[in-house]
Formats: sequence, C-alpha cells, structure tokens
Amino acid sequence: MRLLHTVLGAAVLALAVPAAHAANVKVGVVMTYSGVNAEYGDQITRAMELYLKLNQKELGGHTIELIKRDSKNPGGAVAKTLVQELVTRDKVDILTGFVFSPNAIASAPIATQAKVPMLIMNAGTAWITTLSPYIARVSFSMWHAAYPMGGYAAKTLGCKTAAVGYTDYPPGKDSLEAFKMGFEGAGGKVTDEIPMGNPAQVPDFTPFMQRVKDNKPDCFYVFVPAGPHAAAMVKTYGDVGLRAAGVRLIGPLDIIQDTKLQSMGDPAVGLVTMGHYAADYDNPVNKAFVKAWHEAYGANSTPDFMAAAGWDGMAAIVHVVKTLNGKIDADKAMQVLAGWKFDSPRGPIMIDPQTRDIVMNAHVQRVVKKGDRLMVEVLDVIPAVKDPCKELKVGKCAQ
Ligand code: PHB
Repeated sequence: MRLLHTVLGAAVLALAVPAAHAANVKVGVVMTYSGVNAEYGDQITRAMELYLKLNQKELGGHTIELIKRDSKNPGGAVAKTLVQELVTRDKVDILTGFVFSPNAIASAPIATQAKVPMLIMNAGTAWITTLSPYIARVSFSMWHAAYPMGGYAAKTLGCKTAAVGYTDYPPGKDSLEAFKMGFEGAGGKVTDEIPMGNPAQVPDFTPFMQRVKDNKPDCFYVFVPAGPHAAAMVKTYGDVGLRAAGVRLIGPLDIIQDTKLQSMGDPAVGLVTMGHYAADYDNPVNKAFVKAWHEAYGANSTPDFMAAAGWDGMAAIVHVVKTLNGKIDADKAMQVLAGWKFDSPRGPIMIDPQTRDIVMNAHVQRVVKKGDRLMVEVLDVIPAVKDPCKELKVGKCAQ
C-alpha cells in the first residue's frame, strides 16, 4: 500500500511539473453564428480550429480554449454585451472574431477599459483600428480593395463614369469613399451613389440595378457583404441585363466569395474584383491550406477569404501565446503582434507596427469559366498594400 502511494505520488508529481507551467489561454470568440450570415462565423471558426489542430505542438504544452459566443446580428448591442461578459465573467485573455463592423466598433471601448487584446478577423471599416490601442486586424480594411480598384477602373478598365452601390452601414460608406477617391483621383467621375439596404436583410436589388441601367455609367462598383447579399446582387445584375446594357460590375472580393461563386453562374463570369484571397490562388501555402480544408471538411466545402483570416488570426494568437510563454499581458501581446509576419494562404502578410492593421498584396482578379467551374484568375498583383485610408490620413483614419 505504501509502495502504491509512493508510486502514485511520483506519477502525480511527474504530471504536475509541466502542468504547473502550462497555461490555459482563454480566447473569447465573438461571431455571427445565426441568422442570414451564420456561415461567416462557421467559416472563420473552422479555419481557427483547423489551424489549432494542425499546429498544436507550436504551443509548447500550453492550451488555447475557444469560448464562442453568437453576436447574432450586425447591430453592435448584442456583441458588446457578450464581450462585457467574456471579459468580466469568463476572464478571457484575448478577444477575437468580429465579422460585422458595428460589432467591433461597439466592443472597442471594452478592449481599452479592460486591457484585453482584440484581434479582428473580418470587420473591415478602416478606422476600427484607431478605436483602441488593443485592437489589431488580420482581415482587411475596406480601403485595401476599394481604393486601388478605383484607380484600376479609371486607368486600366477605361471607365470614365461609375455608379457606386453599397450596403448602408460603416463598411459600405467606407468602401464608397475609398473607391471614389481612387477613381476620381485617376480622372473618373462617380455619377451616382446608391445605398442598398442594410446588412441584416438581403434586399431586392432590382430597383437599384434598374436605376443604374437607366443612368448607364461605364462601371458599377458594388460593396455588399459577402454571402447571401453578394449571391443575390450578382444574380440580379444578370436578371436586369446590366451587362448587356454595357455596364461593367466591379467590386471588392466580397462580391465573388468562394463559397457562393459556383452558384452565381454566368452573370459572375468576367467580373473584375480587387482582393486578397481566393481558394484558387496558386501558391504552395494556399495549396496546402485548401488540401487540409478538404481533408477536414470534405471535398465539396471550400475555404474563402473569411476562412483565410481565421487561419491567419489563429496563427497570430498561437504566436502570441508561444512568445509570451502562456502569460498574456495586453501591452506585451500588442508588442508581439506589431510587425508579426506570416506566410498566409493569401501570400505574405504583416501587422503594421504603426497602425496595427494588416499589410498584404492586393490582387486584380477576374472570374473565368473552365468547363463547368467558375474560377478566379489573377491578372495583376500590387505588393504589400498598407491601409490607404491611414496612409492618406483620410477622416477618422488620420490619427
Ligand atoms: C463588415 O461588416 O465589416 C463586413 C461584413 C461582411 C463583409 C465585409 C465587411 O463581406
């Protein structure tokens, strides 16, 4: 009996030594898991979990616990309450997720007050990163795509006039402003600005498209949230006969999200977008990512730009946990994130130490049809784009 005690005691001790040093880092994940845009949260979460599963050993014995909460809608209030609870009750070390801009905007003051690092995995309104020194972003600013798209539309696509359609909330307004600055700066003229409903509900796009058809600009630049909005918008572009009327639909990558592309059919063929990720990108890191995704989630499932941000975001969190040896201090975590570089499926990325926003390549890309499959073909790459809103010090970005 005594011997048994001694043996057991030694076993417990042997387990206790690494356990005493191994931290469980709590990560509060606030995302949209229900409603029209539930698929956003699913895509990002799948990518985060896949990264963790495949890179567990990087953590050196520490663990990461994902505490997931459903922010439901883009209104901001639900997300803010959840973030408050995650911080005060669950005592999370890191906050992440945030697919809709208003949810990130509403939650930002809590990150500051509670001193919790907040890593944004989607929300794209440019000035979100200025709202707290504890915010960093691995996704994109609306300006990453919209501003260069404006220049490209005027200079390369030869559009002299453009109408802009946008979902009427912060990232939509941001995308309008960015495109307009890029387009008019390159000699084009925005002739119509059309708010097209809100992000919580997919509107009937017919009246907006009809208005564009009547005004007949050379280009129609559109930002709508990816997913059901984008699918319905591209379908209506086809139904209303805008292409046949000579109006070219262009936009950021959201309008040709990988998960929706195949179902968009012929109206999507030929669309030119500016973006940072497509499952078709031909680089070794992306090939490995897509392969791992198919193995984990099935051959019919595809990652998209939201998944790429989830993957990269999880890599950033793992990097922080590893570097700080499991002891998360907000100021130190932000220092570790500043200048972090990673070989992402989208290409090389970095967190800009000055702005805490992502630096990444912008791709001019076109949808083509090969056999029955719609594919994204890269026409041109603009390397290492920093958020133009902050580079140009526009409005709330001028801080
Ligand atoms: C946002 O709310 O910032 C947002 C949502 C969906 C997108 C892009 C941006 O596709």
